[in-house]
Amino acid sequence: MLYIIDTANLDDIKRCMEYFPVAGVTTNPTIISKEHTGFPDLIKAIRALIGDEKMLHIQTTGTDAQTIVKEAVLLRDFVGGDFYAKIPISPEGLKATMQLKKMGIKVTETAIFTQQQAMIAAQAGADFVAPYINRLDSIVSDGVHVVSEIVKMFNVHNIKSRVLAASFKNVEQIHKIALAGGHAVTISPELFNTLTYHPLTDRAIESFNADWQSVYGDKGVLDVFER
Ligand code: G3P
Repeated sequence: MLYIIDTANLDDIKRCMEYFPVAGVTTNPTIISKEHTGFPDLIKAIRALIGDEKMLHIQTTGTDAQTIVKEAVLLRDFVGGDFYAKIPISPEGLKATMQLKKMGIKVTETAIFTQQQAMIAAQAGADFVAPYINRLDSIVSDGVHVVSEIVKMFNVHNIKSRVLAASFKNVEQIHKIALAGGHAVTISPELFNTLTYHPLTDRAIESFNADWQSVYGDKGVLDVFER
């Protein structure tokens, strides 16, 4: 399962790229607006930071297919590298998806809340479908169940589209998506820290360090090899 960062904050992207195995970056208009800066410069800076090899998913804002296609082409040409046009699902979005696929532009169909939205997006050619887990859980629905059924449908029908689950608030949701066969998750920088933290891990490290120091003092592994 791929881990992707759901932010446009350059400091957070830099830190997560340094410390975690990150496959790329996803943004949406809400995330972009939080940075209060020029959009073109920001997405160019994100691409420069992550390099051409990593995925960069950038959302279109047009409401008709023609505009969405124009935006996706412009964004692809502007940021380059491994680019995905993130398109909210709608009839116009699906129309744009089919046209973009013919043009060789990769698409992530986003704002997915149901299994059939995912299925039809996949049939339109979406490379990824992005169901919103916590937003489903928040309305007493079940985000993990929706993802597990999407994964099952894609397997049964031999569909190549992948599931990029989004909208997470805790580690339990991420873990259950991994068990359900989700192909990727996009999560906040804060959740990367939470994923890797456990108080027993800290206690184990403290105990290892105390035992080592009782014999070798302040010397580390490199120091004891020095002659
Ligand atoms: O890209 C969609 C995702 O960022 C939504 O997350 O936390 O706003 O539900 P959230």
